[in-house]
Amino acid sequence: MISLDAFDLILFGGSGDLAMRKLLPALYFRHRDTADTAGWRIIGVGLEDLSRDAYIAAAQASCRKFVGAKNFDDAAWHAFAASLDYVPLNARSPADYGRLRDVVDRAPAATRVFYLATAPSLFACISENLGAAGLVTPDSRVVLEKPLGRDLASAERINAEVGAIFDEHQIYRIDHYLGKETVQNLIALRFGNALFEPLWSRASVRDVQITLAETVGVEGRGDFYDGTGALRDMVQNHLLQLLCIVAMEPPSSIDPDAMRDEKLKVLRALRPFTPADVATRTVRGQYRAGAINGQPVPGYLDEAGIPANSRTETFVALKAELNNWRWAGVPFYLRTGKRMQERLAEVVVNFRDVPHALFGSIAGDRVPNRLVIRLQPDESLQLHLMAKVPGDDMRLRPVALNLDFADTYSGRQWDAYERLLMDVIRGKLTLFMRRDELDAAWRWIEPVLDGWERDTSSPRPYTAGTWGPSASSSLLGRDGHEWRQDS
Ligand code: BG6
Repeated sequence: MISLDAFDLILFGGSGDLAMRKLLPALYFRHRDTADTAGWRIIGVGLEDLSRDAYIAAAQASCRKFVGAKNFDDAAWHAFAASLDYVPLNARSPADYGRLRDVVDRAPAATRVFYLATAPSLFACISENLGAAGLVTPDSRVVLEKPLGRDLASAERINAEVGAIFDEHQIYRIDHYLGKETVQNLIALRFGNALFEPLWSRASVRDVQITLAETVGVEGRGDFYDGTGALRDMVQNHLLQLLCIVAMEPPSSIDPDAMRDEKLKVLRALRPFTPADVATRTVRGQYRAGAINGQPVPGYLDEAGIPANSRTETFVALKAELNNWRWAGVPFYLRTGKRMQERLAEVVVNFRDVPHALFGSIAGDRVPNRLVIRLQPDESLQLHLMAKVPGDDMRLRPVALNLDFADTYSGRQWDAYERLLMDVIRGKLTLFMRRDELDAAWRWIEPVLDGWERDTSSPRPYTAGTWGPSASSSLLGRDGHEWRQDS
C-alpha cells in the first residue's frame, strides 16, 4: 500500500470516453489499494448538465465494466464514490469557472491537478480561464492528453498558450505508453543490467523493429480518427517514445531532465525525411473489409463518421535512421495499424549473424540472435539463441529463453494510467514529455505529413485481419530484412 498527500484532481472531459474507460477505473484501483485516501477529491467537469448522483451512477457503470467483475467491489466503490464530485461547465465560458472555484474552495488541497482529457483545441482556453478565475496555485499541475496539436506550428502555439499560465515544471504531457509495465522494464533491462549494453549498438545490432498493432477499428471515434490518422495518433508519440527508450544513451540519473535530455538527443538525431524519402521510406495504408478472429468487419470507409472518399491512413510503416555513432546505418522499422491480424505491441532487436558459419550446411537454418520485448497482449521478454538439436549430428535450431512476467510476478498489473496519475500527483515528471521533445517529434514527422498531403494517391488498401499492405514487407525486403511475423 502506498500513501499520498491530499489532492484535488479536476478532470476536464470528466464524462468523456477517456475518463470513463481509463481514468476513473485507474483511480478506482489506486483508491482501493491506497491506505490513506482521506484527502482525495476527484471533480469531474463537463458540458453535460449532470447532478453529482447522475455522474457517480455513470462512473459506477463504467468502472464496473472496465475493471471487470472480479475487481469490482461494492464497499471499495462506495468509498471511492465518496471522493467524486461533478461540476457542469462550458470550458469556453469564463463565467462557469466561478462555479468550479466555489467547489474547489470548499476544502482546497495543497496539490491541485487539472487533467485536460479534452480536444487539444480547448487546452489554451481552459488554461487561460483557470488562470483568470484564480484557480492556478503554485502547486497546481496540468496534464495534457495527446494529440498535442496537428503539426509543429499548432503544437508550438498550444504549448506557448498553456505555458503563459503554467510553468514547464507544472506541465505533464502524457503518453500512456510510457506508463506501461514493460516499457518500464525495458528501461530496467537496458540500465539495470550490464549484459546488453556492450551489444547495444551498430556493432552488434542489425535492425530494430517496433510494432504497435491493434485488431480494433476506429471504435466509434470516427470523427476524431479521420481528422487525425495513424501517423499523428500513434507514430508521433507512442512509437517515437519507444524508439527513444530503445536508442537513448544511459542517463546519469533518473532525474526527469536527465532522462528527457537523452530522449531529446535521440529525436534530434533522427535522419530527416527528404521528399524522395517519403516515397521510399514510408508506407501508408487503409483497411478494407475483412475478418478478425473469424468475425467479418467492415472496411474503414464504411465505418460510422468516415467520409466515403477519406484518405486518412489507418496503417503506417516507416524506416527511421539515427545520425549518431551508436546507431548510424541501423534501420529502425516502425509500424502501427488498426484492424491488423493480432493485437500486438513489441520491440524486436535483431542482432547480426555470426561472422563465420562454423557448422556449414549440415547445421540447418541459421537464425541470428533476437531479443523480443513484448508489451501486449502478454508481457514477456524472449531471447532467441541457436542450440544443438539432440542427437548424433551437429544440427542447430533456434530456441527461446522466455521470461513471462505474468508467470514471474503474480497479482494484477497496474494499468499505465494508474502509474501516470500517481506520478502526476506525486510530482514525478520523468515519464512525461518535455516541450522540446514534443517539438522535435513533430519536426521529424512533419515532412511525412506534408509529403502525403501533396501526394494525391490513396493510401494502400489492406484487408482487415492481415499485417497491412504488402508494401510494408517490401520496405524491409529492399534491405534484405523481414518483419518478425513474416520470417
Ligand atoms: C491511443 C490511440 O493513444 O492509443 C488509440 O489514440 C489507440 O487510437 C490506443 O487505440 C492504443 O493504446 P493501447 O494501450 O490499447 O495499446
